[in-house]
Amino acid sequence: MHLNTHIPLWEGFPHVVRTQQFSRETLDGLFRIAGELVEERKKTADGPWKALGAGRTLLTLFYEPSSRTVMSFLRAATLLGMEAKNVPDPLVFSSEAKGESFDDAIRMYSGPYFESAFRIADVLVIRHPELDRIERAAAVSNVPVINAGNGSDQHPTQSLVDLYAIHYMFDELDGLHVGIVGDLERGRTCRSLAYLLGKVAKNIRLTFIAPPELQMRQDVCEYLQRHGVPYEQRSDYGDVLSTLDVLYIVRLQKERDPARVEALLPALQPLRFTAERLAEVPEHARVLHPMPIDASVPGLSEIAPELWDIARTQQDRRLAWFTQCDFGIPVRMALLAVMLTNRWERQ
Ligand code: NCD
Repeated sequence: MHLNTHIPLWEGFPHVVRTQQFSRETLDGLFRIAGELVEERKKTADGPWKALGAGRTLLTLFYEPSSRTVMSFLRAATLLGMEAKNVPDPLVFSSEAKGESFDDAIRMYSGPYFESAFRIADVLVIRHPELDRIERAAAVSNVPVINAGNGSDQHPTQSLVDLYAIHYMFDELDGLHVGIVGDLERGRTCRSLAYLLGKVAKNIRLTFIAPPELQMRQDVCEYLQRHGVPYEQRSDYGDVLSTLDVLYIVRLQKERDPARVEALLPALQPLRFTAERLAEVPEHARVLHPMPIDASVPGLSEIAPELWDIARTQQDRRLAWFTQCDFGIPVRMALLAVMLTNRWERQ
């Protein structure tokens, strides 16, 4: 099998900063590659992808916690034959702890100063609490930079995974009614998702369900208006669940403002997803969550504990977040494969 990685490239290639960079044609190409990788890997551990990244290194720099994103990038890179390395807790263990600037750190990791054969990394994957760091990194880096989450702004590769999951589950992206519930104000996954659906899906309808203080921000709403995408903002479920194809749940982003947690948690309680709510969701629909599910106080979790085991054991196919998560590696492999095989020179 030959893996054809020549697809229409995204705007601003090779950096991945926000989901609006992606067109439907690019997504179709990425999803074709990811689908081929999924099929091929069922048959053999050593597929045609294995040599794509030989001699290249992927470096992850995470200034915020991560489980799935960092590990799926490292694994995706390894499966492509790359060397995969993580800088552990950069503010503690890298020279940034000694006062080195972020920009210098990026320049140093992405070299080269005299010879590209000696650069440390060929792809940088960065998660940072500050909104502007990914763009700054892309401006100074000599290698592709991927946004793995910039504060409460965007998390584009999660949306690629989410759309791949939706495409896999419904066999299409068009004509769906997608409800998004939770901390929409600061949830970067749902912001990226709304932007991407608004850009690439046809005849889509979005319903944002959140208390007024956590509603989707104006930038996303204006984008949807400009693209003629119908959306509704509401603070309760009403009878909307029975009309949905996808319900996308996000947790309260406690780390963004710990002082507000006590006030915001009660506001979200009426929106918790429980067995009673599930009963309203149509059989064909899917409930997604980028994870992690906040289980620190089970009685307050955005998904009630009575549903956790049902989802884990896949007893109800509507509760689909573990399947969604499974696509993290093939979709990121597809993205990296395109970066590794399409030429880019820094201007
Ligand atoms: C998300 C994130 O980091 O934004 N996690 C993830 O990468 N799947 C979601 C979240 O933390 O709520």
